[in-house]
Amino acid sequence: PRLPLVAPSVLAADFGRAAGDAADALAAGGDLLHVDVMDGHFVPNLSMGGGMIAGLRKHLPDAFLDVHLMVERPHDYVGAFAEAGANSFSFHAEVCRPHRVHGVDAGDLIASIRDAGMTPGMVINPPTPVSWVAPYLDGLGLVLVMSVFPGAGGQSFMPEVLTKCRELRTRLRPTTRLQIDGGIGPGTASAARDAGVDLLVAGSAVFGAADRAATIAGIRGA
Ligand code: DX5
Ligand code: ZN
Repeated sequence: PRLPLVAPSVLAADFGRAAGDAADALAAGGDLLHVDVMDGHFVPNLSMGGGMIAGLRKHLPDAFLDVHLMVERPHDYVGAFAEAGANSFSFHAEVCRPHRVHGVDAGDLIASIRDAGMTPGMVINPPTPVSWVAPYLDGLGLVLVMSVFPGAGGQSFMPEVLTKCRELRTRLRPTTRLQIDGGIGPGTASAARDAGVDLLVAGSAVFGAADRAATIAGIRGA
């Protein structure tokens, strides 16, 4: 693919016309759609689930749906989200053993995501070290470094996470995407790209822009 990729985040779309808004962001140059699932436990908010994934898939048959699960029990959704049409399935390292008592086994979950036909991804929050994903890097199609505390769109980019991006880029295979999420817009994307990020999520910057094509081009660095 042409790198870096830009993923408009459906969380910032108009939920009453989500597929139309998402289609508009793809027509404006977005490469794939980022879909934020929140369970009200891992983060305080609720957002969307399998119904929204299925609805986006129905109306956008060719879109790549990149699903980011901010949930305590990601393993409960592998089958349902694959069935709904998710292409990638990314879960947080913080809900895995040994960091969470009774947490999920990350290796088992990665295998089940692949068996279901999706690309596995792991996510780390701003304070979480690279060591929490390091044992799994060879099995992952993407690693997502959060550049805000997850749970809401429209927050300010945290540049200190770029240290982790630089380290991850040296450790990842060239075919594994390094993704960043939170506070990305034309003004913050260049530092992320310079740190080796090749998949940039942007919610409020894209959907709030008067000119979405120019905004996406600015994030891409084109
Ligand atoms: C935050 C979500 C993000 C969100 C980013 O918890 O994971 O994907 O949509 O929104 P912006 O780009 O507005 O920071
Ligand atoms: Zn996200």
